[in-house]
Amino acid sequence: MIADLMNLVASDNLTTTTARLRPIIAIDGPAGAGKSTIARHLARYFGLLNLETGAMYRAFALKALAANVSLDDPAALLALSAKTRVRVEPGEEGNRVFLDDEDVTSQLRDAAITDGASRVSVHPRIRAWMVALQQELGAAGGVVMEGRDIGTVVFPNADVKIFLDAAPEVRGLRRYDQMGEPAEVQPEEVIQELRARDARDRNRADSPLKAAEDAIILDSTHLTLEEVLTQAEAIVEAKLARKTV
Ligand code: DC
Repeated sequence: MIADLMNLVASDNLTTTTARLRPIIAIDGPAGAGKSTIARHLARYFGLLNLETGAMYRAFALKALAANVSLDDPAALLALSAKTRVRVEPGEEGNRVFLDDEDVTSQLRDAAITDGASRVSVHPRIRAWMVALQQELGAAGGVVMEGRDIGTVVFPNADVKIFLDAAPEVRGLRRYDQMGEPAEVQPEEVIQELRARDARDRNRADSPLKAAEDAIILDSTHLTLEEVLTQAEAIVEAKLARKTV
C-alpha cells in the first residue's frame, strides 16, 4: 500500500533529477520545534511522503492507557505490543493513524497521550518494534520522516538530516499560541510540560533525542516560520544537489 503510494508519487510528481532518487529526509528535534509543519512543507515542496513517527508512539500509548497497562512496565507493554497493529498513512492534511484498523487520528493530541507517548518510548523493546516498522515504511525512500531518532537510529544513512531546535520558552509560547482561546492552561505550564518531556526524551538510555553528528542544526529561536521554511528548503536542495554530481 505504502509502496504503491510511493511509486505513484515517484512517477507522477517528481520531476527533478534529485527527487527521482527517492531520498530519505530525516527531521529530528525536541517537542514543539515545528517539526511537523516543516516536514509537511518539505514533503509537499519536494513531492515526497511525510511520515510522523511520534504519532505511532502516541497510538500505542492510547492503547496502553485504554487497556490499563502500566506505562512503566516494559514486560506488560511488550506483551501488549504483540497484540497491536499501528499503521500510518500519509496524506495532504497530515498523517492518518490506525490502531488495530481503527482511525484514531483525532484522539492523539490529549495531554495524557502526549505524556504517555514519551513514557512508552523509553522502553528499548518498544522502540525496537517501532523502529522496525518505521524502517519498513521508509525503505523505498521518497519520504520526509520526522521524530527524535530518525537520523541517529532509524535511518542513519538518510540523504538529508535536519535537527530542528529552539529555546524551550519559545517552543512553549508557540504551542500556547496554537491552543487558541480560551486556553485552559497558563503559558508557564506549557513551557514546564515541554521541559519535562525534553528531559525524558533527551535522557533516556536507549536512543535519546540528540542531533546526529552529520545533521544540520536549524535553530528557529530567532526566526519566523517563513525563514525556517526557506532555510530548510535550501538545506535539502543543497544536500540533494551534492549527491547527484
Ligand atoms: O513528535 P511527538 O510529540 O508526536 O512524539 C511523542 C513522543 O514520542 C515523544 O515525546 C517521544 C516519542 N518519540 C520517540 O521517542 N521517537 C520518535 N522517533 C518519535 C517520537
